[in-house]
Amino acid sequence: MARSRWIAAVLSPALITTAIAAAVFTIPQTASAAPVTYQSEDATISQGVVESNHNGYTGSGFVNFDNLTGSYVEYTVNAAAAGSHSLVFRYANGTTANRPVNVTVNGTPAVSGLGFPGTGAWTNWQNVTTNVDLVAGTNTIRTTATTSNGGPNADSLIVDVAGTEPPPGPGDTPVARHGQLKVCGTKLCNERGQVVQLRGMSTHGIQWYSQCIKTASLDALANDWKADILRVAMYIQEGGYESNPRRFTDMMHGYIEEATKRGMYVLVDWHQLSPGDPNYNTSRAKTFFTEIAQRHKDKKNIIYDIANEPNGVSWANVKRYAEEMIPVIRAQDPDGVVFVGTHGWSTFGISDGQNETSVFNNPINASNFMYTFHFYAASHGQNYLDALRRIADRVPVFVTEFGTQTASGDGGNNFSMSDRYIALMAEKQIGWTNWNFSDDNRTGAVFNTGTCAGNNFAGTGVLKQAGVWVREKIRAGR
Ligand code: GCU
Repeated sequence: MARSRWIAAVLSPALITTAIAAAVFTIPQTASAAPVTYQSEDATISQGVVESNHNGYTGSGFVNFDNLTGSYVEYTVNAAAAGSHSLVFRYANGTTANRPVNVTVNGTPAVSGLGFPGTGAWTNWQNVTTNVDLVAGTNTIRTTATTSNGGPNADSLIVDVAGTEPPPGPGDTPVARHGQLKVCGTKLCNERGQVVQLRGMSTHGIQWYSQCIKTASLDALANDWKADILRVAMYIQEGGYESNPRRFTDMMHGYIEEATKRGMYVLVDWHQLSPGDPNYNTSRAKTFFTEIAQRHKDKKNIIYDIANEPNGVSWANVKRYAEEMIPVIRAQDPDGVVFVGTHGWSTFGISDGQNETSVFNNPINASNFMYTFHFYAASHGQNYLDALRRIADRVPVFVTEFGTQTASGDGGNNFSMSDRYIALMAEKQIGWTNWNFSDDNRTGAVFNTGTCAGNNFAGTGVLKQAGVWVREKIRAGR
């Protein structure tokens, strides 16, 4: 939650039934065909050479495109089924100029101007991901340089040969369909290597609005809203975790079980806000995340967010905290995806009058993590939208909080600006959770005041305007 939105909402916390009893739930096995790697040196090359003089490539080398428009590499790949498949291009570009290529599939243009930005060094290999339609059986995928610089050095193409699953049937859930997530290049992928965009809701602070997170509301979120993910906002100060670590840790255990029963992903949100330097809470965070990760490490639906909104703190200090915390989580849960907030209330510094280059130039030294970005559409206009586009092209990013109103979570909604953000997030497959799933009096709380006292949460009758809008955006995905 951005800027001092917490102050007004002090309600006496209702006790929640945490139902921590070991959850007995079955996740149907997904048909899994591992992604297949096609080495560029084995592909058909026109105006390019195979080289091996820059370390870090896989296979026996990489293709150095000739520096001219029209040089290409063409891969012959096999798909198990017709439909959408993700392509992950592993590459290096030791220059600072983007080297876009056009992608054709079986001779037909599929993606134009797919960007391959600089990776900092020819020995620094990164991934670019896109989705294309393939036919069942043999396909040719050609990448052709569109500038006189030629293409990047091309190491390999990783294809999710299984393709998109058929539409969900009854009993299907997001976790059953996607399983254990992992970060693939700049995107989030499911356990079959397909890019996934998760959409869902964030709770309000659980010290104030636990009465809104109960059986009926979670059933509505999973079944009526068709959400993929629940973000549980556990404040540290402001009457949260710090005031009673045992109680708040047990609440989080309970919510994780509730999300798991419903087949939703759950984002464990360490909602530090004030103080804004996450290092202030490092020892508390270590205690909390060690217990959470130890207990839930075998589940496939946990994502750890270790810093909600760093503020009044430099990027270097946020990075230092992240590099201390990520190994603590990984020691318990080696394949758990971790999210890290950015300086300037998770705006990559934009809210501090900086820009995203502080992060780009000094990235977190870890793997399988995403940075987070927050925006409020009635306060944050074109410059934030443009920044999010640039960020998503460079690094993995998830929008763990946004609202259709102002940064206070209140005031008039700007739905047209919000629609533009939704379109960008769909285009770039950026996952999101919206603020917030409560009946607080502000415009950003989706339920009408008083709703949480009852047991009727489904449909639009109980929703404020922002709720009607966001429910529709989540449902549109399923
Ligand atoms: C350098 C580099 C090559 C690269 C080339 C280019 O010569 O060593 O690996 O392909 O620049 O700019 O394309």
